[in-house]
Amino acid sequence: MRLILLGFGVVGQSFVKLLLSHSTDLYNDYGIKPKVVACADNGGIITCDQGLDLDRLLNVKKKKKSIIHYGVKGNRSEILDVIENIDAEVVIELTPTNIVDGEPGKNHIISAMKSGKNVITVNKGPLALEFPSLMELAEYNRIAFKFSGTVGGGTPILEFAKRCLKGDRIISFEGILNGTTNYILSKMYEGLNFSEALQDASEKGYAEKDPTLDIDGYDAVAKLVIASNFVMNMKSTMKDVRREGIRDVKPSQVLNERKKGNAIKLIASCDGKNLVVEPKPASMKDPICVDGILNAITFTCQHSGQQTIIGKGAGGMETASAILRDLIDIRSTIRS
Ligand SMILES: NC(=O)c1ccc[n+]([C@@H]2O[C@H](COP(=O)([O-])OP(=O)(O)OC[C@H]3O[C@@H](n4cnc5c(N)ncnc54)[C@H](OP(=O)(O)O)[C@@H]3O)[C@@H](O)[C@H]2O)c1
Repeated sequence: MRLILLGFGVVGQSFVKLLLSHSTDLYNDYGIKPKVVACADNGGIITCDQGLDLDRLLNVKKKKKSIIHYGVKGNRSEILDVIENIDAEVVIELTPTNIVDGEPGKNHIISAMKSGKNVITVNKGPLALEFPSLMELAEYNRIAFKFSGTVGGGTPILEFAKRCLKGDRIISFEGILNGTTNYILSKMYEGLNFSEALQDASEKGYAEKDPTLDIDGYDAVAKLVIASNFVMNMKSTMKDVRREGIRDVKPSQVLNERKKGNAIKLIASCDGKNLVVEPKPASMKDPICVDGILNAITFTCQHSGQQTIIGKGAGGMETASAILRDLIDIRSTIRS
């Protein structure tokens, strides 16, 4: 399978390491022999029709910061031009999430779809802003569009709902979809105030330099939009979500709830009509009341009742494993 990798940061490099370490299994179990024929980072895009040497790609990135120093000819072409014109089956979009206009990911995805290439992404921006139109475009161009890692990182939240709960009707779902805020709230439960908990999260590498996307709830909103569209067939975008972050959660509130056997959690919920992200009390006995950086989501179904899935919601390798899952799915589709 000929792949184009757009973005070669934490997730992109983890994915390439997975390809290297799983090459035998991928071929024996699924008949997949991946060739990365193009790769882009912020420095530009490089291409190689025979497939880039992945060990060398990782080395160049580590030592010289940009893959552009890999040393193949014609390597400064425009990314969109490469997406459209190079022979490849799958475009894997891994550039940073931008929830203002979805770029550069949105344009990458649209170009790939229009040129008939299957798309895998873990970039939440384009989907959170334009889920319905991107799904339509994928359908119109008859390509597979996979985004398992956008919600839950490596934890297969979307597949769990779509495949494992097949045949049942999901009435609603609610859960913790952001590990950073859950870590902060877990630390507040232990007695830290908001600033101390945020500082602790930054020191441990769980919070970004600018943590706005997480603590003001935007990241959870983006994931809620993707899940509500995919699982409940809603036609929602980010503006349809009522959002409140965790900045104003007070230690006294946390303590009061703790005395009642509850913890305050940033809960994302969907009842088929209303989409909400807000901090609210959850019983410590509720399975979604997970600690630290974990994510958890409970689906309430018409026949099978409540089903909860729990796991790490982020991480390079974890998220790369979701991309590999998607790739295997695409391979099966192409085969059949
Ligand atoms: N990390 C996680 O645990 C995780 C989990 C789930 C989803 N995600 C999503 O996965 C995506 C990638 O995450 P990450 O952690 O790998 O981010 P990252 O480490 O910041 O990597 C982003 C990559 O995109 C490249 N890039 C930036 N602008 C570009 C442009 N205009 N054209 C081409 N490449 C460009 C960067 O280039 P340089 O290397 O040159 O800067 C970098 O290689 C994000 O959308 C993120 O939200 C991440």
